[in-house]
Amino acid sequence: MRPFAYACSLAAVAFAAEQWINEVDTGLTDYLFSTNYTEGHLPLLKDMRAVMDFDYAARQFLDNQKYSFYRTAAGGEWSYRNNLDVWKKVMLRPRHLHDVSKLNETLPVTFMGYNFSAPIFIAPAARGGYANPERAELNFVDAAAKENILYTAALYASKTIEELAAQKHNETMNGPQVMFQQACLSLLNHVQIYTNVNLSVTWDAMKRAEAAGAKAFVWTIDAPGDSTRHRAARYDTTNANAVTSALTWDLYDEIKSRTSLPVIPKGIVTVEDALLAVEKGAPAIYLSNHGGRQVEYSPSPLEVAYEIYRNAPQVFQQVEVMADSGVRYGTDVVKLLALGVKMVGLGRPFMYANCYGTEGVEKLIQILKTEIVHDAAQAGVTDLKKVPRNLVRLPTQFDTVLKY
Ligand SMILES: Cc1cc2nc3c(=O)[nH]c(=O)nc-3n(C[C@H](O)[C@H](O)[C@H](O)COP(=O)(O)O)c2cc1C
Repeated sequence: MRPFAYACSLAAVAFAAEQWINEVDTGLTDYLFSTNYTEGHLPLLKDMRAVMDFDYAARQFLDNQKYSFYRTAAGGEWSYRNNLDVWKKVMLRPRHLHDVSKLNETLPVTFMGYNFSAPIFIAPAARGGYANPERAELNFVDAAAKENILYTAALYASKTIEELAAQKHNETMNGPQVMFQQACLSLLNHVQIYTNVNLSVTWDAMKRAEAAGAKAFVWTIDAPGDSTRHRAARYDTTNANAVTSALTWDLYDEIKSRTSLPVIPKGIVTVEDALLAVEKGAPAIYLSNHGGRQVEYSPSPLEVAYEIYRNAPQVFQQVEVMADSGVRYGTDVVKLLALGVKMVGLGRPFMYANCYGTEGVEKLIQILKTEIVHDAAQAGVTDLKKVPRNLVRLPTQFDTVLKY
């Protein structure tokens, strides 16, 4: 090798960024290979001990096309990675000698007037049938009912609005099960077409959801066009978005005028849009960058919540706030609660857990609930409904104070 090239390669090694890994080492693979586990098979459910374990399990079980559709994200997947990495930039400030003995009792939450056992929910995600061809999202309905948490069904779920409604349970904390319905600009026959979005399909879907007993709509505002997703494109797996479309706040007004149900805008990533949503009378807002699947370089919910907190903290009093994207640990939930978020969602982990059916989804919910209580207790939180803001130490680069 020539001296210059040699020097360059040495420099490259010296400056090489640490290789990014999708999931931290929870000891899962070491453990599995010490048993008689064979790669390429679904590990035993009892061996799933962390939310990220389900990602590994799904990667073994699903074929590449299906796993890639769940896992895919936009562009170079920097937002996807940031969603998972951002939490480590935010330290906790644990307070000791606080009586946390009643913390468990503070896990339940009232959101939009309904009662749930924990401040977590199953985010809307399409094509549950990839993980579980027969029962698909029916498993989400069952597990959400058994664990008394909120499920927000996706418009492009594998099961129809009516099939999901028929699966609802009658005996939950709210009496009959409460579900929300995601809605978006619908495309005729799910075919991609330029701007020519067929609104009558959307109105029809909304009517059907209302008739089926949905309690609120979650209106996806962060899919005005098709997104660049190489990982899924490799298998010719397309999105359900138009190439471009006229998604506007005027349309939000029109949607609201067509239903008596609350309409929650999903995909807020700036304080400006949070304020606009409040001005437009949104009953709640949903902070999300769609798990990094739509616009590349859009911020994580932690960064967005902090931007709102710094620039317009009143928003958290004016409306209830939901958030998702990259949430994988109890501490992630606790950090968002500290910033004023009320309900925290997960997308991919539930899709992965569905490889195990209802039991897998239930186990994931139980893991999260346990972690939230353990982590909050360790940090000296006495009431999950009043997690103090100063529990989190936010880095200066998060401090985007805007001038109006
Ligand atoms: C496979 C998949 C399909 C999704 N489909 C939809 C959808 O149809 N509508 C929507 O608003 N969001 C959709 N999302 C985004 C989720 O609602 C949620 O915002 C995201 O998954 C949260 O990030 P996480 O996967 O890191 O938890 C989808 C996400 C995944 C992973």
